Amino acid sequence: MIAQRTAGLPIEHIVGWAEFCGLRVSVGPGVFVPRRRTEFLVSEAAARCPPRAVVVDLCCGTGALGAAVAAAADVAELHAADVDPAAVAYAARTIGPGGGHVYQGDLYAPLPAALRGRVDLLLANVPYVPTREIGLLPPEASRHEPAVALDGGTDGLGVFRRAAAGAAGWLAPGGHVLSETSGRQAADATAILTRCGLKARVASDPERNATVVIGTRPLPAAGAG
Ligand SMILES: C[S@@+](CC[C@H](N)C(=O)[O-])C[C@H]1O[C@@H](n2cnc3c(N)ncnc32)[C@H](O)[C@@H]1O
Repeated sequence: MIAQRTAGLPIEHIVGWAEFCGLRVSVGPGVFVPRRRTEFLVSEAAARCPPRAVVVDLCCGTGALGAAVAAAADVAELHAADVDPAAVAYAARTIGPGGGHVYQGDLYAPLPAALRGRVDLLLANVPYVPTREIGLLPPEASRHEPAVALDGGTDGLGVFRRAAAGAAGWLAPGGHVLSETSGRQAADATAILTRCGLKARVASDPERNATVVIGTRPLPAAGAG
């Protein structure tokens, strides 16, 4: 194990688990290690969680975010999806035993159509590293985590733009989409959410160096429909 660690493997891949929001989440080679800073996204999501919530963990990796929100709030349905089969296998282990559903495919494509317009919380910790900056990450990430988990395209917001474009169609009125970004990307990310018809705001936690953009599907105007 020491030889693996000195060779640069993330310690979580070596021991087989990561601590996240007080949970032990299974991780291993080939899958993104949930970051402690992302606990901030979970606390922002849990604070907005209505009773009997329908939650989707998009780009779920190990499924840590969905599991953590379900542990902290009143979640009736949990669905998680990822494009990478390795991530899907870990997510099934994380959220399957609690009755969560896991799907493989591109963004919203594998989700059941019955979820459209019903999602209270859409957790979307998409890849957001600009392609040219991946080489600047510590080797634990740049060499040992899959590029699909990190690479957000030229400005880092390529996957985010696609996730934001679909969000309003899946969210319930008053539902929220939450995505982590860098502090530098937050203004562009909120402008994207606004263009997608959502009310956008930024939350940040300097202690954890965490920035989360939150888009909310507006409630229908009183008297409408
Ligand atoms: C930054 S990791 C986050 C994983 C997990 N949400 C977490 O915070 O631990 C991004 C995840 O997005 C997935 N992903 C990348 N592009 C995707 C796409 N087009 N559709 C679905 N998942 C995608 C990757 O496989 C990876 O698991």
